[in-house]
Amino acid sequence: MTEVAFLLNGTPLRLEGQPPTRTLLDFLRETKALNGTKEGCNEGDCGACTVMVTDENGPRALNACILFLQQLQGKAVRTIEGLAAQNGTPHPVQSAMVDHHGSQCGFCTPGFIVSMAVAHAKGRTDHDTVLAGNLCRCTGYAPIIRAAQAAETSPIPAQMTQDAFILAQISSEGSGEADSLPAPQVAGAYCPDNSDDFASWYLQNPDATLIAGATDVGLWVTKGLRDLPKPVFLGQMRDLQQIERSGGQIHIGAGVTIATLRSTLHHSHPSFAELLRRYASEQVRNAATIGGNIANGSPIGDAPPALIAMGATLHLRCGDDLRSLPLEDFFLAYRKQDRKASEFVAGISIPEAVPALRCYKLSKRFDQDISAVLGAFNLTCADGRIIAARVGFGGMAGTPKRASGFEAALIGQSWSLASISAALPALADDFQPLSDMRASAGYRLQAAQNLALRYFHDLSGTPVSVLEVAP
Ligand SMILES: Cc1cc2nc3c(=O)[nH]c(=O)nc-3n(C[C@H](O)[C@H](O)[C@H](O)COP(=O)(O)OP(=O)(O)OC[C@H]3O[C@@H](n4cnc5c(N)ncnc54)[C@H](O)[C@@H]3O)c2cc1C
Ligand code: FES
Ligand code: FES
Repeated sequence: MTEVAFLLNGTPLRLEGQPPTRTLLDFLRETKALNGTKEGCNEGDCGACTVMVTDENGPRALNACILFLQQLQGKAVRTIEGLAAQNGTPHPVQSAMVDHHGSQCGFCTPGFIVSMAVAHAKGRTDHDTVLAGNLCRCTGYAPIIRAAQAAETSPIPAQMTQDAFILAQISSEGSGEADSLPAPQVAGAYCPDNSDDFASWYLQNPDATLIAGATDVGLWVTKGLRDLPKPVFLGQMRDLQQIERSGGQIHIGAGVTIATLRSTLHHSHPSFAELLRRYASEQVRNAATIGGNIANGSPIGDAPPALIAMGATLHLRCGDDLRSLPLEDFFLAYRKQDRKASEFVAGISIPEAVPALRCYKLSKRFDQDISAVLGAFNLTCADGRIIAARVGFGGMAGTPKRASGFEAALIGQSWSLASISAALPALADDFQPLSDMRASAGYRLQAAQNLALRYFHDLSGTPVSVLEVAP
């Protein structure tokens, strides 16, 4: 059992005796009767359970169904019930949804409105991206997008900034209402606030379950109905959430979220950042960490193939021992990684710029879908010849994997469509993909070869993205 303190719709709460992996959604609906937050899929896909969570980095939209209560320590939660002003004046996006007929059955509407309100508070107007993780089965998206656009210029209501203000007051005063935050560490769930403490604790507790953003682990509970032994929540370790630049490299802590990574690398690594835009949804990117995406060893994780193509170095820590290795060497076999007991992912380093990197994700839907095939290409040319090649694929093997034979077939060749075409058969030696519900083996191999051709056309200046091709 655990103890946790956070603000709920402006009111401080201190909870005791909650199971450490109880979800916020269950707590809101079953304990607080805040039933405006809906349960749709209970696995992070539909956005019906979207809530606003504010911390020192500002507000973000998260899915309450895969958010454990313990992850809220010291933060502020605002549900659909907390969006209107105290005098009952609706939030501008609520009014706009009424005016623009943005709701029919209404089941999805609270989730949409919370996502829209967070975007409104942040001045965002990329509504398609913001709302890609909210599913509506009956209204259709056009009226909803029109509502979001109509609310763009309305002032941000006071209740939307109140949480950040109270949290800042709490951290500067450390008194008054602040008595409710933060909660002490208690048995049942360990929440280290720095990686030194965690590293020595993990040495003594090698059987612990590490929980970062819980976008995988959350489903072990809500869908797998698993009890997690010794949960340890990594989200309070600020030292693992840093991004630093030195020696021509960018050093990214394991606890950096995909959303932060995307915005940080927007200018320096545009193709990677664009790939991350298609990683799940806003709500999932706001929770998921790069450490979790690497550590889970999924063959269809989006970041690893791109990081492999960049030449990323992975940093692992066990107690006081640190070791670094090329990321591709971390993935040994399906779900088997080169990670010892009590060792954890501390971070990853990538070159400050990788101008020739291009990342291509193929999935059945453009947004919010897992890759069928993901190809990331990074070729270096001098005097018209290919002198270095790094190519990473996801969805083509039991792990994210480098296309070593294909790379070897390219090196020394001229930079031409003929050279790329001639090297394509090597991909069939590099990979023997599986058939599954996402794609057949034949499709995967053909698509991988086509992506290599696409890379040539892309770097030659031909528009290749569906977003670039004009009618
Ligand atoms: C709706 C939905 C859509 C998704 N779409 C995508 C997608 O498009 N692309 C994609 O790549 N993924 C996707 N995912 C999967 C998921 O978001 C990622 O795998 C995510 O990066 C995991 O990170 P996390 O911080 O949430 O990890 P968690 O769920 O907290 O942990 C994942 C695993 O990593 C371990 N772990 C976490 N941090 C560390 C660490 N520092 N050291 C060692 N082990 C650690 C955990 O113990 C666990 O085994 C999706 C998930 C959901 C729910
Ligand atoms: S209930 Fe579907 S995302 Fe939470
Ligand atoms: S209004 Fe019915 S699902 Fe969106």
